[in-house]
Amino acid sequence: MAEKRYRVGILGCGGIANAHARAILKTGQMDFVAFCDIDEVRAKDFNERYAQGGAKVFTDYRKMFELVEMDIVYICLPPFAHSDEVEIAAKAGVHIFIEKPIALDMETASRMVKACKENKVKSQVGFLSRHGEAVQTVKRMIESSEAGQVGLFIAWYMCNSLHSPWWRDKSKSGGQIVEQIIHTYDIARFLLGEPVSVFCHLDNLFHRHVPDYTSEDVSATSVRFKNGAVATIAGTNGAIPNKWISHWKLVMQNFTVEFENANNATLVQTNLPYTRTLNVNSDKDLFLAETLDLINAIENDVETLCPIDEGAKTLKFVLAVRESGETGKVVTIEQ
Ligand SMILES: NC(=O)c1ccc[n+]([C@@H]2O[C@H](COP(=O)([O-])OP(=O)(O)OC[C@H]3O[C@@H](n4cnc5c(N)ncnc54)[C@H](O)[C@@H]3O)[C@@H](O)[C@H]2O)c1
Repeated sequence: MAEKRYRVGILGCGGIANAHARAILKTGQMDFVAFCDIDEVRAKDFNERYAQGGAKVFTDYRKMFELVEMDIVYICLPPFAHSDEVEIAAKAGVHIFIEKPIALDMETASRMVKACKENKVKSQVGFLSRHGEAVQTVKRMIESSEAGQVGLFIAWYMCNSLHSPWWRDKSKSGGQIVEQIIHTYDIARFLLGEPVSVFCHLDNLFHRHVPDYTSEDVSATSVRFKNGAVATIAGTNGAIPNKWISHWKLVMQNFTVEFENANNATLVQTNLPYTRTLNVNSDKDLFLAETLDLINAIENDVETLCPIDEGAKTLKFVLAVRESGETGKVVTIEQ
């Protein structure tokens, strides 16, 4: 039987959409039918670069969903620009890939989740680290009980870049925790389970002189999880210029894991009379992995690794962290 082909649209033709467009082409079974951006030049540029000018170009996503039939839309909008695009797509029966954070408030996120459920469309949120081979290996060890009780997760995220104007503006990006360190908080949820309470200190210490820089640039968070595990997650945008450093360490009853990144880790087994070291090393393309997982979900009617309700739960987590940082109070997360 011939492989099924998928008609694809991209909404938001900016930086990260390029990574998804390249992965889409790599599958060899997806065809671009539409590109939409409020900046028409960007949408036209994507059309030339990725579809030899053969797709339709829009500046209004409502028109795109009205006029073009598609199977999957990639929503790569900046956080502040989310509104009803998921609801419109889901009603049209279009499956959804959406970048994190899926929204900046829980009301919008809940509407998105409801629309996907009611219209039975598949969804994938861009928490690509979940697809890493090292993360997958550790996840399986936790689920099979081989790892034993999960105890402590220590992580930090460090960069030093002014990023784009919308990124620096907390009202548009949500701030560094909500826009960027959310990847680390999501991995914490993925491996340790649901958080129940958080306490965070945050501040803008390095960028007060930069006009319109309202995001925090240092943060330190302590988390308690439902299963008793604890975590500390720190972040800054004041570290080494042009280096993005993400580090995770996980201590479980039977293994201590040092992640180099989502694909590579060293696992030391600690419940034997001697130690045993296992290495997971992979060069898996995580952008391709999230797209192939979405296709698999559509073809076999199963969930993706990160359906939209997972995106909403991790959003709730980081909004609670930010609230704690802003109020100086411990915030309890209702399940
Ligand atoms: N998964 C990852 O590793 C990763 C990495 C980078 C960015 N992201 C996420 O991807 C999203 C986009 O980030 P980016 O860096 O590509 O941003 P960007 O600013 O480079 O691109 C966003 C694009 O959306 C367009 N846009 C804005 N409002 C629109 C609207 N209403 N309708 C149509 N187009 C609109 C802009 O003109 C721009 O071309 C963000 O949520 C960001 O957090 C994820």
